[in-house]
Amino acid sequence: MDSEILRLKKLQAQSPNKAKVPYGNTQKPNNRAHYAKNVIIVTSGKGGVGKSTIAVNIASGLAQRGFKVGILDADVYGPSVPRMLQVEHERLHWNSLDQIVPSENFGLKIMSAALTTPSPDTPLIWRSSVATSAMIQLLDDVAWGDLDFLVVDMPPGTGDSQLTIAQELRISSAIVVTTPQKVATDDVRRAIRMLQEIKAPIGGLIENMSYFVSPESGVRHSIFGEGGGKYLSKEYGVSLLGEIPLDPGIREMSDDGLPVTVGGSDLQKSFFMGIVDRLLSSGQFSLDGGAVKEC
Ligand SMILES: Nc1ncnc2c1ncn2[C@@H]1O[C@H](COP(=O)(O)OP(=O)(O)OP(=O)(O)O)[C@@H](O)[C@H]1O
Ligand SMILES: [Mg+2]
Repeated sequence: MDSEILRLKKLQAQSPNKAKVPYGNTQKPNNRAHYAKNVIIVTSGKGGVGKSTIAVNIASGLAQRGFKVGILDADVYGPSVPRMLQVEHERLHWNSLDQIVPSENFGLKIMSAALTTPSPDTPLIWRSSVATSAMIQLLDDVAWGDLDFLVVDMPPGTGDSQLTIAQELRISSAIVVTTPQKVATDDVRRAIRMLQEIKAPIGGLIENMSYFVSPESGVRHSIFGEGGGKYLSKEYGVSLLGEIPLDPGIREMSDDGLPVTVGGSDLQKSFFMGIVDRLLSSGQFSLDGGAVKEC
């Protein structure tokens, strides 16, 4: 634990002035990600519903549509983005301006607190105040470059990380992930209420693991019940961006570090690209008529 804190102190020592910038509040958030035209957060009240899978595939789908995209893993205690994008063995390094260089794969700039540890399985044993400072550093001190989109993969719940992100970033769109069953939708309700409370714009709802189609019979099974996404969408007046089936192939690609939008079948890709295109045509984002040009 000491070595983790020393490492963090070393990181902080490199930007003493930035560390003094006061925290914002949710009504008037700081704009830490001033380099990104749009910030998308992928969140849910519930754990294990597919937030990271969806964040990675939305980011990769946006990159495939020609946008400059960064993905920040805000799940300090359960980071999964590095594995899902095959950079889990990369470690931190700095450029000549003493900025942290993000990892890159599949056309995405990638940063996670997990990349700051000596090895991929080192646990981050941090108090939440330390985790919050680390998150702010990953926003402030990383050489993200100009981005069209910064996609933030949030940890589950409605706690410290959610508040910090809402205080420190101007969120363009919060995407809420649910699964169909009541136990999940109860938690997701709390997340929606929190977003409403802190005035973060809710860009839409995604129902993941909606159904399973038997490969033998082609019969559709509602393993986790049905209708949760549609119900929440109606109840809170939030658009339902998509329903993604439970598909062992999606789990395998996540484990192998291959975004479905890159390695999936046309059908598998269509679930995520459909969501990306619905988001792009929703008018939520500042797009300047298209992607930022390479310079
Ligand atoms: N549609 C799907 N079909 C099959 N497996 C899926 C699907 N979506 C996600 N998974 C798998 O479910 C597991 C949990 O997904 P993921 O890690 O994306 O959830 P999460 O909400 O980010 O979890 P946590 O709350 O722990 O951060 C992973 O193994 C992932 O590969
Ligand atoms: Mg996750």
